[in-house]
Amino acid sequence: MKSILRGRILSFLTEPQHAEDTDAFTYLEDGALIMEGGKILHLGDFVALAPDQRLGARVIDHRPHLIMPGFIDTHLHFPQMHAVGSWGKQLLDWLNTYTFPQEARFADPAHAGRMASWFLDQLISQGTTTVATYCSVHRASAEALFTAAAGRDYRLIAGKVMMDRNAPAAVLDTPQAGYDHSKALIAAWHGKGRIDYAITPRFAITSTPEQMEAVATLIREHPDCYVQTHLDENRDEIDLALRLYPRARDYLDIYESYGMLGSRSLFGHCIHMNDRERSAMAESGSVAVFCPTSNLFLGSGLFDEAAMRRVGVRTAIATDVGGGTDYSMLRTLDEAYKVLQLQDCDFDPYRAFYSLTLGNAKALSKAHQIGTLGPDSEADIVVLDSRATPVMAMRMETVTSLREELFVLQTFGDDRAVKQTYVHGVASKAQHPDPPPSAVSGQKI
Ligand code: GUN
Ligand code: ZN
Repeated sequence: MKSILRGRILSFLTEPQHAEDTDAFTYLEDGALIMEGGKILHLGDFVALAPDQRLGARVIDHRPHLIMPGFIDTHLHFPQMHAVGSWGKQLLDWLNTYTFPQEARFADPAHAGRMASWFLDQLISQGTTTVATYCSVHRASAEALFTAAAGRDYRLIAGKVMMDRNAPAAVLDTPQAGYDHSKALIAAWHGKGRIDYAITPRFAITSTPEQMEAVATLIREHPDCYVQTHLDENRDEIDLALRLYPRARDYLDIYESYGMLGSRSLFGHCIHMNDRERSAMAESGSVAVFCPTSNLFLGSGLFDEAAMRRVGVRTAIATDVGGGTDYSMLRTLDEAYKVLQLQDCDFDPYRAFYSLTLGNAKALSKAHQIGTLGPDSEADIVVLDSRATPVMAMRMETVTSLREELFVLQTFGDDRAVKQTYVHGVASKAQHPDPPPSAVSGQKI
């Protein structure tokens, strides 16, 4: 059935170049968005709709809220829901102490299935309609997530992690098993409905050269799959990676030598980079993914966005849950703003909201499908209430422009500001997603 969403509508056309760049987006004060069969058919003024456009359509009135393309999260970890917000330690300790034990539990298909449902419901309640995520090393974890996404018609990029050393046995595979299981998952899921596969060597530290050869083979055999990994996040990590690959010129060179760079390659973090690495990223069209809540929480460092822009590296923004502390892309914008402030750079609200939508869609080479509300786009949509909390409502009393309103959403917003999320045209926000049963029965001192 045809639906017409009525409300204030904002959709970016290109990247805003400055704070007054209103040509970069479409904004309709009383807008109408017509959708049918999961696709957007029309975007225009509500009062200008022709009678035949209204015929047989159900009008859903979202006034006075703001209708935008659904948010896109380009890097997070599905098996880290019980590791998020774990106290202390920087990257390598944090992985060993909290993350790997939680990821080990995803060998159990029942656990993976329950967590996959909760994970996607949580993302939907945050207004996030596309994610690129890591699964655990276990094939069952990826099967569970792909199955849950297919059931919700959710746009998902994911892959089982490949890792064959420097972690507990319960989260290791082998070069052959990593290759075989990735291959089987690609055959079963890549290109099915709204699902894409990402070949996912966790990072150089947890893959032997033999496994990296298997990664290179997978990339050669499946050039249309994504590739995702971690790069230059933490100084101890970089030292260890270079000790494990002593012939590499720098960290990126490890990945380069296994054919991992390219326009479908997503490199998480990219904090401590040298000029050569940035140039190689730019030349290959690889994407550097900025994960502000994670970089602050794990004390990793500050993403140098200005340096990326200077040499033309493609960038994206992401939560990196569970190193990142929040599933909300709005909270992520807030922390990104502060990371850039610390480097004397600004993050204008137009550019911030562009980055969550069209910017991240471009980074995933999916701007023809998601990230805007243009005709023929997939109907992934978020409806935002800028007065969702008492603090926001009070602050909104002095707001006089869309730009200021976006900054209120960016600075104070979270899932409470998300009134509704449409996933492929279907209203999908659960009002109160149930937490999974607790793994811990009592608290000790
Ligand atoms: N590097 C390798 N694995 C991880 C992970 O799970 N989280 C983060 N933040 N960095 C990583
Ligand atoms: Zn990560």
